[in-house]
Amino acid sequence: MDIGRIPSVNVSRVARRGAFLGGITSQVRSRAAALLRQASGTVLDVGCGNALLFAEAGEGADLRRVGLDGDPALLREARAVMADNGVSGAHLVRGDAFRLPFRAGAAEVVLLLNTLVNLPSDDLAERLLRGLMEVCRPGGRLIFDIRNGSNPLLRLRYALHNLRGDFSTRAHRLARIRRLCAANGFEIVRAEPVGLRWMAWAYVVEAQKRPLCDA
Ligand SMILES: C[S@@+](CC[C@H](N)C(=O)[O-])C[C@H]1O[C@@H](n2cnc3c(N)ncnc32)[C@H](O)[C@@H]1O
Repeated sequence: MDIGRIPSVNVSRVARRGAFLGGITSQVRSRAAALLRQASGTVLDVGCGNALLFAEAGEGADLRRVGLDGDPALLREARAVMADNGVSGAHLVRGDAFRLPFRAGAAEVVLLLNTLVNLPSDDLAERLLRGLMEVCRPGGRLIFDIRNGSNPLLRLRYALHNLRGDFSTRAHRLARIRRLCAANGFEIVRAEPVGLRWMAWAYVVEAQKRPLCDA
């Protein structure tokens, strides 16, 4: 299932290459980075890991970048990765994605990349997404990926992987995510397939929060 290439960022300091530089993982991040380059305002990357997203997206003049992750070692790696790529000014915070230390509506763009895939249940995934939706301002965007639960090959691969039991992998169906978004005042404005369009491995989803005047 090797579908991709490592992006054109300096990744020499990335310790856990398997976790961060796999084909789907890298492609998801690259597509999100392209969306981020067009953004402005406060951008919050939840589960930012070693900040490869910020390294790849570059500095954007109108962006205030905040990354949150629960793993202090990854946040240290993030600082080194950003420095290696000439990116500065991002604010990195240690915290829990399920208890975000930000007020409602604090960010124009909220991202969650390559993270839902490892949550063990739909309930947890929905809880996490709902928390992110809170932090997104009206009219703002939530950008996240799902591994495609309608792809039978991927489902088989994840089922086999889960038998080994070291950590869980989980795919999600776009239709269910669409319903979740709609129920929380978000509309999916883009669902970009990663891999073949007719049998995507993943989707990078961009959902817009209903502006206040529409409420
Ligand atoms: C596979 S990595 C993806 C990192 C990054 N988003 C990327 O695409 O390169 C998943 C990240 O989520 C973080 N994470 C998982 N659960 C978390 C939680 N409850 N709170 C904060 N961070 C969490 C992990 O520490 C890890 O850095």
